[in-house]
Amino acid sequence: MTPLRPGLLPLTAEVGADDRLRVGGCDVVGLAAEHGTPLFVYDEAHLRSRAREAVAAFGDGATYAAKAFLCRAMAALVHEEGMGIDVASGGELHVALAAGVPAARLVLHGNNKSEGELARALSVGVGRIVVDSLDELDRIEALVAAGAPAPRVLVRITPGVEAHTHVYVMTGQADSKFGFGLASGAAADAVARAQASPAMDLVGVHAHIGSNVFLLSSFAQAVEVLADFVVPLGLPELVLGGGLGVAYVEGEDAPTISEWAAVLAKACAEAGISSRVAVEPGRAIAADAALTLYTVGTIKEVAGIRTYVSVDGGMSDNPRPVLYGSGYEAFLPRAVAAERPRSVRVVGKHCESGDVIVHQARVPTDLQVGDILATPVTGAYGHSMASTYNKVPRPAVVFVADGRARLVVRRETLDDLLRLDA
Ligand code: LLP
Repeated sequence: MTPLRPGLLPLTAEVGADDRLRVGGCDVVGLAAEHGTPLFVYDEAHLRSRAREAVAAFGDGATYAAKAFLCRAMAALVHEEGMGIDVASGGELHVALAAGVPAARLVLHGNNKSEGELARALSVGVGRIVVDSLDELDRIEALVAAGAPAPRVLVRITPGVEAHTHVYVMTGQADSKFGFGLASGAAADAVARAQASPAMDLVGVHAHIGSNVFLLSSFAQAVEVLADFVVPLGLPELVLGGGLGVAYVEGEDAPTISEWAAVLAKACAEAGISSRVAVEPGRAIAADAALTLYTVGTIKEVAGIRTYVSVDGGMSDNPRPVLYGSGYEAFLPRAVAAERPRSVRVVGKHCESGDVIVHQARVPTDLQVGDILATPVTGAYGHSMASTYNKVPRPAVVFVADGRARLVVRRETLDDLLRLDA
């Protein structure tokens, strides 16, 4: 029944006497009128504040996981705030470089880096490569033998810790396509091989236990498990991945970046780890910085069953409900403090029944066709996982700050949909 919890909105969100939402000093309904919908609205002050919090806690080791949301403006913003960037493909590498981020501030990830991706990373001089397989070690050695500069590398390890999260985004368990298993001895072999190789400089190990993890004790447990392996190596760096969870819906509460840092620091100290600790948060930087605005197109009452509210986007701009069963809230930016007694299902415009944005959304009674409806906490893995399914063009993205909205990704046009046809 109650209005949306303010904690799910970006930091600069404010509700005026007219009950309308402003973010970054911009009237949100006005943004929809100006830029069209669906629209991703990012609060720039929120992004900067999260990045600063990460840098304050981890210094040089604060690295933004670009997969959560990336465009040139985002890469430039996190770089300006002092974060490095984790790029997980040649494409992410390309965007970060195009944004002017120095290669030395980039870390290349991926369980199947191609020779081409590695060649570019070496030639531009990325700061670190996180090695994920023996085949990759072979490729790096061949490239260096052919004249490429030798990189600094970390070896990715799967510590065998099962984080409490969705099974699709769990990555620390032994049965994983990522990294080298600790228990099997594969990690020790990979480290020995990298150490012996003149084609690379091994500077540390890396472990990522999963994504959207709420329990800080899972991270502490990973540190404990890693310690016996890491301490005797005496390497200067330890990267503990990303994965800090965020609250998406009422009733959820996530730890802050500073709380995460404190738990990691304590766990490392207790385990006798003196390496510099780095992390790669994506979601915790970007998720609650943004909301998505949609226009309500149809409201269908299915007698005795439920009400379907269809919006002008859907699984093409937010596949998370379909992929992971993720929950979201919905509200009307024209009436933020309104009671929300009506239960509806918010669905997209795609040709499949699974195209649901919010299974049981609570909305004000007077919700009507033409309303701008918003879903908060859509800043991570929304736009970055967007598709053009059903040839629905991908939404635009604006950054708002100080009363101004800056278009950072333009809306895809119908002609863009033909761009790749040969
Ligand atoms: N570092 C590594 C090595 C990763 O694999 C990931 C996420 C991160 C950092 C960043 O994790 P974060 O801090 O954002 O949780 N599409 C899924 C999430 C997949 C994450 C994959 N790797 C979702 O929408 O929940």
